[in-house]
Amino acid sequence: MSLALAEHKKEDRDQQVPAIIAALGPKSIVLIGLMGAGKTAVGKRLAAKLDLPFVDADKEIEEAAGQSITEIFAEHGEAYFRQGERKVIARLLEAGPQVLATGGGAYMIEEASATIRQRGISIWLRAELPVLLHRVRKRNHRPLLIGRDNEQVMRNLMAERYPIYAEADITVESRDVPHEVIVKEVIEAVAVRLGCHTTRTKAPRSDTVT
Ligand code: S3P
Repeated sequence: MSLALAEHKKEDRDQQVPAIIAALGPKSIVLIGLMGAGKTAVGKRLAAKLDLPFVDADKEIEEAAGQSITEIFAEHGEAYFRQGERKVIARLLEAGPQVLATGGGAYMIEEASATIRQRGISIWLRAELPVLLHRVRKRNHRPLLIGRDNEQVMRNLMAERYPIYAEADITVESRDVPHEVIVKEVIEAVAVRLGCHTTRTKAPRSDTVT
């Protein structure tokens, strides 16, 4: 790559963030995907790059309930958790722009996905089973997995949820690369989606430095 082209690419990147923020308006960037897809890890870094607040829906549910998600599932059941999840997501999406990481089941709640469509740009962090399994097995705090055959549960959830997640505005393949790589791909895809992407393949002739 010529020096001039490299400089232009940098300029494009510098202009990309303000352009995205302007085009986003009050909308939120909403990360969806299965447990282990990297919604929180990518979301935090994405928010930092875009200089937007980062909000984790699961954390907000825990704060609102004064209990951990495991406790909510154990004491009140999944249906109760989903009700709380729907309400919290509706409340959080009133406060955009922000980066919002949702729990894996959130987009499956019809009302929640409708609110996400209205008030956000949805990004599906799609991942293959081995990637997800490797990640979820590192910690044992997810009520849908505790004491169950993780592989079978994840296979079932993929079959049930992937066709619905596929309706998201943007899909980015989550894989075993540094989070920054995924963040960059998300930013590019958001810029394209919002119509503020500049593709420069050649430096203008007059600036060309070889
Ligand atoms: C769930 C995913 C979890 C959490 C809850 C249920 C799901 O969030 O909301 O345990 O139904 O997939 P993460 O996807 O952040 O692990």
